[in-house]
Amino acid sequence: MATWSAPGKLFLFGEHAVVYGKPGIAMAIRPRVYVTVRKSSHAHHARSLYIEQCFKEMGVRGSVYINSQIPSSSGLGSSGAVTVATLAAINEEFNIGKTIHEIANLAFKIEKKVQKGRASPTDTSVSTYGGMFLILNGERKRLAPQNYQFVIGNSQISHSTSRMVERVAQFKEGDPSICNPIIDAIGGLSYQALQHIHDPIRLGELMDINHALLEALGVGHPALSRLVLACRQTGAYGAKITGAGGGGCMVALAPKNLKGRVAGAIEVFDGRAIITSLDCEGLRREEEG
Ligand code: MEV
Repeated sequence: MATWSAPGKLFLFGEHAVVYGKPGIAMAIRPRVYVTVRKSSHAHHARSLYIEQCFKEMGVRGSVYINSQIPSSSGLGSSGAVTVATLAAINEEFNIGKTIHEIANLAFKIEKKVQKGRASPTDTSVSTYGGMFLILNGERKRLAPQNYQFVIGNSQISHSTSRMVERVAQFKEGDPSICNPIIDAIGGLSYQALQHIHDPIRLGELMDINHALLEALGVGHPALSRLVLACRQTGAYGAKITGAGGGGCMVALAPKNLKGRVAGAIEVFDGRAIITSLDCEGLRREEEG
């Protein structure tokens, strides 16, 4: 029996713009998914296309048990985390000998197949390696870890990343003279954020601007706007949609002494709050017992 865990991911800046080769900042965060795999001739798989593909690609059969603390379909990278943790657990249980880089690459291949070509490597890379990254042209550059606390608000409105990516693509095709400057501006914000990474007040302002630009791109949702406003009113430095939008989650950067108040405001406005911070560990082997 082998158990591995992997963290979720959070886009701090640049979602959607990264699809067009602009920079973004993404990081691993503490809700984790735990996956246990056991050799077994009677395969007991969770009903998940991702897990099915993991066993298929590794060429083995076994049982799997998943304990996920990451809400699914919320923009926090749950499918990427499940895929990398399942591959790592299969790798150990069946002594397959793949490296961590091979696991990250295979996880991306599986995400792409299940999501019919629409996946980006961000989720699987962040979940595999942990830490904070600048994403640029599909490449990632590791950034120095930051000791910030974030409050995530899950609107519990289900959304589809591929539909939101498609919506932006249609906007870009139909109205390039309006859409392209918005995408450029979002890319510019990621560079600004890098320059002010130690200044939470400036980062909060940049998050607010990024949120407005995401709304202008057409990926907002009234439930997300309510949560973002509630966080700002209770003292967050800034708040924005995180992930594809249209539902799913928002994230606020809050002073440490106000994080409980900000989380409370999210709950008052029908969201589910998660207080989190950077997870520098990526894939992790879990001891038994
Ligand atoms: C989704 O979490 C972020 C998007 O930029 C798509 C992607 O980068 O895979 C919308």
